[in-house]
Amino acid sequence: MRVLGIETSCDETGVAIYDSEVGLLADALYSQVEVHSQYGGVVPELASRDHVRKLLPMIRQVLAEIGCEHEGAKCIDGIAYTAGPGLIGALMVGGAVGRSLAYAWDVPALGVHHMEGHLLAPMLEKNPPSCPFVALLVSGGHTQLVSVKSIGEYEILGESLDDAAGEAFDKVAKMLDLDYPGGPRIAQLAEQGTHERFTFPRPMTDRPGLDFSFSGLKTYTMNTIAACRGEDVLPDTQTMADIACAFQDAVVDTLVIKCRRALQQTDSKTLVIAGGVAANVVLRQRLKEALEKFGATVFYARNEFCTDNGAMIAYAGCLRLLAGQQDDLAIRALPRWPMDGLPPLNSDVAL
Ligand code: KG4
Ligand code: ZN
Repeated sequence: MRVLGIETSCDETGVAIYDSEVGLLADALYSQVEVHSQYGGVVPELASRDHVRKLLPMIRQVLAEIGCEHEGAKCIDGIAYTAGPGLIGALMVGGAVGRSLAYAWDVPALGVHHMEGHLLAPMLEKNPPSCPFVALLVSGGHTQLVSVKSIGEYEILGESLDDAAGEAFDKVAKMLDLDYPGGPRIAQLAEQGTHERFTFPRPMTDRPGLDFSFSGLKTYTMNTIAACRGEDVLPDTQTMADIACAFQDAVVDTLVIKCRRALQQTDSKTLVIAGGVAANVVLRQRLKEALEKFGATVFYARNEFCTDNGAMIAYAGCLRLLAGQQDDLAIRALPRWPMDGLPPLNSDVAL
């Protein structure tokens, strides 16, 4: 089965074609970062308009790449688009185009859960994890620990009560006058930082449970920045780097502590990290070191499949379409959509 995947939930337009026999055939990504960077964050209306502009040319492009430019109906067996969670206008663009093309080509369409896409992205790598496992989903919109019994059978073990980890990275970057998206900027700046100068709190690690909270850490960072500005220590490149380093250390330590706890609680030896923050090199390294100590392994996708992309949607959609799941003629767009309510996948299907 060859599936066209469409991702338009936020500020990346992603289009890919996944073949259940051969693997990923084509993958195109357009990032709207330049559109939004002058505003310091994603402007929903501008995101929708840019998806409208880019989506059809990108679909033509991936079809051309597999030699099917005017023959979508002959080459594609199903269409998967992100149905949520995400920005409603942005979702509507991908949903309307995906559902309509499927109708025109007379193939099934399926609205895919964006976070299931992230969660399954490491399966596109050469050495994929196998179920059951624990997944840490860390993006700009979510921070969740999920017990994955099988594909489609998800239990949320814990989640952020306020800001997502990526959101906290973005907001701290903004406080330091760094460009959007802030995660990669903070990570880069932290490379020059010293670990000893500032120590920030590790929120909610001193009590049991697997929930997170990053808003207090964000306020603590804001107060530190304000104090440094008051003493004229900022702007100074080394101080900025030291603050970035202390903030990243605090987020990473908090995530590592909760991941270890989640693995112990579920008696699991496999951790999957997914979503934009999973691209963070320090997080990957510290998790690897921490988990090695008790014989557990951490899996993640290549960097471009940690952040939003069409390949993960094509792959997740392919699994579900192969299992016989498909939507009716409605266009599905769900800005909020809990992942633990998804239908389980027929367990015979594994690519
Ligand atoms: O998964 P994603 O592309 O979009 C959402 O579904 O939200 O994640 C984007 C988030 C942003 O908050 C971005 O700052 C963060 O992931 N991010 C990072 C890194 N790369 C992206 N955070 C920390 N370190 C990174 N290297
Ligand atoms: Zn995402």
